[in-house]
Amino acid sequence: MPVDRPGPALMELIEMTTEDKLFEAIDAERLPAHVAIIMDGNGRWAKERGLPRSAGHRQGVETLREVVRYASSLGIGVLTMFAFSTENWRRPPWEVKYLMGLPQEYLYSELPELIKNNVRVNLLGDPRRLPGPARQAVEKGIEETAHCSGMLLNFALNYGSRQEIIRAVRTIGEDLANGKLTSAIDEEVFASYLYTAGAPDPDLLIRTGGEYRLSNFLLWQIAYSELWFTKTYWPDFKCRHLLQALGDYQRRERRFGQV
Ligand code: IPE
Ligand code: IPE
Ligand code: MG
Repeated sequence: MPVDRPGPALMELIEMTTEDKLFEAIDAERLPAHVAIIMDGNGRWAKERGLPRSAGHRQGVETLREVVRYASSLGIGVLTMFAFSTENWRRPPWEVKYLMGLPQEYLYSELPELIKNNVRVNLLGDPRRLPGPARQAVEKGIEETAHCSGMLLNFALNYGSRQEIIRAVRTIGEDLANGKLTSAIDEEVFASYLYTAGAPDPDLLIRTGGEYRLSNFLLWQIAYSELWFTKTYWPDFKCRHLLQALGDYQRRERRFGQV
């Protein structure tokens, strides 16, 4: 006799049970201080459903909403989300335009919740190239959450790690010339010139969508991060996937070059 696939209600119950089990397996005392996520696979998620790529980006915003809420409720200190790279400007104009509409869509609807959850918004990247409405939404998000002392939520938007490093080198050169910088340049000084200044390096880097590459994300900062890849497309990524990543992270031995 053929076995029926579990119906939606049963599937939901199975997933809830899995989530509970995964949650119980996490040690709240040893959470990563900083989790960085490359949200990838929106386009393929849509294509597989016969939908336009924009539908994947839209669903991706919903995943973002859930993951941010969940990470903050778990007590993650810093969450960095890769939303748009300096290379993503090379996409077709309609897609760039669509993606550049998402910061305002997310931030205006989510700001009350972010403030309620004490989440502070920050931007990694050059805001000058962002279209006005996107830039204004990000500025508003930063301003209105400036007093929040809970999770730091970094949006990497028009972000490229190589550009970030070049920018740091240039500013260091200027500050040496104008006397603002008088100390020797060591790792700590250099890191203070990056967009991530003041935040700990990511302990855990997650990439969804099945690609095993970094795509110009946080190259300096992830020197000793634990990397976690999943084939799951970003729109399908759920809190249980985050729990799975956190559990795997906690089972790894970080040696930092020692024995
Ligand atoms: C991630 O999904 C969103 C951005 C890079 C802005 P993609 O749009 O890259 O989706 P795929 O990789 O084509 O499936
Ligand atoms: C990386 O995804 C950038 C973001 C998730 C914002 P891409 O889809 O742009 O990366 P590549 O092109 O596959 O390397
Ligand atoms: Mg992609």
